[in-house]
Formats: sequence, C-alpha cells, structure tokens
Amino acid sequence: MIKKRVLNALNSQLNAELYSAYLYLAMEAYFESINLSGFANWMRAQAQEELIHAMKFYDYIVARGERVDLTAIDEPQKEWDSPLAVFEHVYEHEKMVTGLINDLVDISVAESDHATTNFLQWYVAEQVEEEESASGVLQRVKLTADSPGGLFMLDSELGLRVFNPPVKEE
Ligand code: FEO
Repeated sequence: MIKKRVLNALNSQLNAELYSAYLYLAMEAYFESINLSGFANWMRAQAQEELIHAMKFYDYIVARGERVDLTAIDEPQKEWDSPLAVFEHVYEHEKMVTGLINDLVDISVAESDHATTNFLQWYVAEQVEEEESASGVLQRVKLTADSPGGLFMLDSELGLRVFNPPVKEE
C-alpha cells in the first residue's frame, strides 16, 4: 500500500515519462522531415528508453498493490528552427525531468516511504546519464554550426545508436 500523496506523484511521473516519449517521437518526425535519419534514429531510441522509464513506474505501482491512473498526455511541440534548437530543448527537458525525480524523492522521504525512495534511486542515477548524453550531443551539434559536412558526419554517427531493452530482473 502507498500513501495517496506518493501514489499521485508516481502516477504523475508515469504520465511525464510517457510525455517524454511523445516529445522525442515528435523530434524524430522533425528530423525525418529534414532528411537527418541518423538524428531521427537517436530520437527513436530515446523514445523507447522513455517507454521503459514509464513502464518501470507502471510495474512498481502494480507491485505495491495500487492502481495505475493513466491521464491525458499533452501534445508535444512539433517544429524547431534547427537541430541545435532541438538539442537545446532535449537538454532543458532532461534537466526538468531531473527536477521532477528529485521532487518525487523528496515526497517519498517526507512520507517515510522507504521502498519508494529506494525504487527512485534508479531514476536518480539514470538522470545523470540522460543529462550527460543530451549535453554531449548538444555540444557536438554546436561544433557543427558552420559545417554542414560536420552535421552529416554527426548524423551518420547518431544513426548507429541502438536501443538495448533492459534484461528483466527476477
Ligand atoms: Fe525518463 Fe529522459 O528521462
């Protein structure tokens, strides 16, 4: 059983993770529309990771004997001015998600829900990786500002990203 305040926050974060997947799918569509298929591939893998993040919340809520509450997912932004604008958005979005996770940890601590605090540590570590990854690509997109050749080389590299589904823990 989970206290109502913690349960509401977990369900809200489930929605936020699904929104993240939606946002990255919108970014994938943008990149496909400007023929940067490697960037699009990177976004597809990112969206798949967000679905994993969402489902971990889903499964945790069920494991604690509670009911998942699926609410409306906001429509994402669909247009950007440039690849640079997209990755500035990605980095800002991930920093915002880190803030949401930290708030969620604070709630679990305030409510003395040690199981949830423990569960959330995976996300605390994951957000360090998410910010590092977004910032890394952002810095490299900035380096290609005056070099279309550089942008196409980066596109080829991002096209190599492969989504690795996590191995289910027993
Ligand atoms: Fe679910 Fe990109 O954080």
